[in-house]
Amino acid sequence: MSSLGTLMEHFKADIESVKQRDPAAKNTMEIIFTYSGLHAVAAYRISHYFYQKRMYLTARVISQLARHFTGIEIHPGAKIGKGLFIDHGMGVVIGETTEIGDNCLIYQGVTLGGTGKDRGKRHPTLGNNVMVGSGARVLGPFKVGNNVKIAANAVVLAAIPDNCTAVGVPARVVRCNGKPAEDLDQIHIPDPVAQELCKMDIRMSRLEKLLAEKNAADKPSETPECPPKKTRKKSAPKSEK
Ligand SMILES: CC(C)(COP(=O)(O)OP(=O)(O)OC[C@H]1O[C@@H](n2cnc3c(N)ncnc32)[C@H](O)[C@@H]1OP(=O)(O)O)[C@@H](O)C(=O)NCCC(=O)NCCS
Repeated sequence: MSSLGTLMEHFKADIESVKQRDPAAKNTMEIIFTYSGLHAVAAYRISHYFYQKRMYLTARVISQLARHFTGIEIHPGAKIGKGLFIDHGMGVVIGETTEIGDNCLIYQGVTLGGTGKDRGKRHPTLGNNVMVGSGARVLGPFKVGNNVKIAANAVVLAAIPDNCTAVGVPARVVRCNGKPAEDLDQIHIPDPVAQELCKMDIRMSRLEKLLAEKNAADKPSETPECPPKKTRKKSAPKSEK
């Protein structure tokens, strides 16, 4: 964002996104005055402007004020595309290195955060048209693809491909391109660990064979020839005197 024009353009797109996604939204005025998610996103866009100008304190003050009034904390350093709708919003936290594509929907209680193990880029990257259900946590610097749905209360710890639904703790993909995950071809995906184990198995079989051959060669025969028995010579009976 580099100018007031872009700021206004984003603001309009954010309002449009609310209209399209929330059946409860009646008109533009209601959206502008009563949607705290919209207020938080608008405040973010202003704070991000100052963040880009390296006016970090001003940026943080704006974002903390917005947090105070809306209950939604968006770090000014996050990169957010147009048309983000934060529905209800209370308890949403969006970390500094988070990236969010266009037209995403985030419900209350969502955390887009880090695990505490990474430095630098430590928050997730969301594609376009991603929906993150209420209470979900997306933790770590991985990518969530376009058109992904993350279920309410899921804890996502790894990347999710495009057009998939992830549920549970830790989250697993249950649906992709409209098909249940068990219908997906998971057999022909090469598994590097299984391949290594297979190679080791072959080598072990060869070694076992060699060992068996060597043992067979060294082994004395089953019925060894016994040395001839030493027979004592019977002493001749003493002649009677
Ligand atoms: C996940 C969700 C988006 C539905 O996506 P979908 O692609 O249509 O998936 P489905 O409804 O077909 O569900 C797929 C499977 O996930 C399960 N599932 C759905 N939501 C789940 C959740 N939150 N937690 C755990 N499992 C869930 C379903 O029971 C189903 O399991 P099954 O295949 O064993 O029957 C939806 O359930 C959801 O969680 N939406 C969040 C909405 C929200 O936060 N609303 C707040 C409004 S204030």
